[in-house]
Amino acid sequence: MKRNILITGGAGFIGSHVVRLFVNKYPEYRIINLDKLTYAGNLANLRDIEHAPNYTFVRADICDLETIREVFRRYEIDGVIHLAAESHVDRSIKDPFTFARTNVMGTLTLLQAAKEYWNEAWEGKRFYHISTDEVYGALEFDGSLFTEETRYNPHSPYSAAKASSDHFVRAYHDTYGMPTIVTNCSNNYGPYQFPEKLIPLFINNIRHSRPLPVYGTGENVRDWLYVEDHARAIDLIFHRGKIAETYNIGGFNEWKNIDLIRVIVKTVDRLLGNPEGTSDKLITFVTDRAGHDLRYAIDASKLKRELGWEPSLQFEEGIEKTVRWYLENQEWMDQITSGEYEKYYDSMYKNR
Ligand code: NAD
Ligand code: TYD
Repeated sequence: MKRNILITGGAGFIGSHVVRLFVNKYPEYRIINLDKLTYAGNLANLRDIEHAPNYTFVRADICDLETIREVFRRYEIDGVIHLAAESHVDRSIKDPFTFARTNVMGTLTLLQAAKEYWNEAWEGKRFYHISTDEVYGALEFDGSLFTEETRYNPHSPYSAAKASSDHFVRAYHDTYGMPTIVTNCSNNYGPYQFPEKLIPLFINNIRHSRPLPVYGTGENVRDWLYVEDHARAIDLIFHRGKIAETYNIGGFNEWKNIDLIRVIVKTVDRLLGNPEGTSDKLITFVTDRAGHDLRYAIDASKLKRELGWEPSLQFEEGIEKTVRWYLENQEWMDQITSGEYEKYYDSMYKNR
C-alpha cells in the first residue's frame, strides 16, 4: 500500500533510526522527514539514505502552523510519527519556555494541521506521538514499575511539557475522533545520540581523558533500551497498534548510573587498548541535578503480550556495539563538538 508518512524530528537521535528503518523497509512509502535542525538535529545522521527515492527532507519548525498546513497538503500526508521535541532535562531546567513552545505548542500545531487536512475522513489515517516514561514521575527502589495506568506526575520542565503534549494528543482523539496512539519509552542508547546525554558524553570524555560528571551519588536508576529496538517497536505499533491506546516501551534493563558508568569506562578502556582501570580516576561526583528523579522503570509487558515485541539485544551486546560505534565515528563526534555542522546547515538552508 502506498502511504505518505510525515516523521518529525527525523534528524535527531531516535528519529534518524526511525527514518532509516522506514525508508529501507518500505520502498512503497514516501517518507517526509520534517525537522527544524536545532542544535540536536544533524543531517549527517542520515547520510546513508539521503538520496533514496522515497525520502524527502523538509526544514521547518513544528510550531509554524502555516508551513505545517502546507506540508500536509503538498505531500498528502496520511500518517504522522511525531518525535520532534526538545529532549534534554538539564536544558529544560535552564530554559523551560523553549520546552513548552516546541513540545506543547509544536505538538498542538501538528495535531491541528492534521485535523484540518484530514477533515474527519479518519479512515486509514494515524497520528502516532512518541513520548517518554519521565511523564510518570519517579519510583522508589521498591521493584515497582510504570504501567500504562500509572498516574502522570512529571517533575522536570521537560517531562511536564511532554506530559502536556500527551494530554493534547489524547484530547484530539476524545474530542474530535482523531486516530491517535501514544507510546512512552525508557532511556534510549546507541549510535547518533547527541553528546550531551550520559552515554555518548561519557564515551567521548573518556577518549579525551576528561572528567566524567556523575550527578549526586550516582544511585539513580534508569531503564535502558537500544535505539534500534525502539525503532522496531515504533514500526510495529504504527502498523498494528490499536487506536487510542497507550503502549509502554522499555528494555527490562535497569541500571544504577554508577554501575552503568563503570561498565562504560571498562568497555572504552578495553576497546582503546588501555590497561584495565586506566580511566576510573575520571569518575567525578558533582552537584546533583535539581529535582533529579530517583528511578525510572517500565513495565513493557502489554506490548509484548498484545503485539509480540521484545528487545532483541542483550545490554552487554548493545553497549559494546555503541561504544565501538562512537570510537569508530570520531569524525561525527568532532563535527558536533566543534560546532562545524551547525555552521554548515545554516549556510545551506538560509534561503529556505
Ligand atoms: P533529539 O534531541 O536527539 O532530537 C530531537 C529532534 O527534533 C532534532 O532533530 C531537532 O532538530 C528536532 N526539533 C526540535 N525542535 C523542533 C521544532 N520546533 N520543529 C521541528 N523539529 C524540531 O531527541 P531524541 O532523543 O531523538 O528524542 C526523540 C523523541 O523521543 C522526543 O519526543 C523524546 O521526548 C522522545 N523520547 C526520547 C527518549 C531518549 O532516551 N532519548 C526516550 C523516550 C522518549
Ligand atoms: P540523561 O542521559 O540526561 O537522561 P535522563 O535524565 O532523561 O534520564 O541522564 C541519564 C542519567 O544520568 C540521569 O540520571 C542523569 C545522569 N547524568 C549524570 O550523572 N551525569 C551527566 O553528565 C548526565 C548528562 C546525566
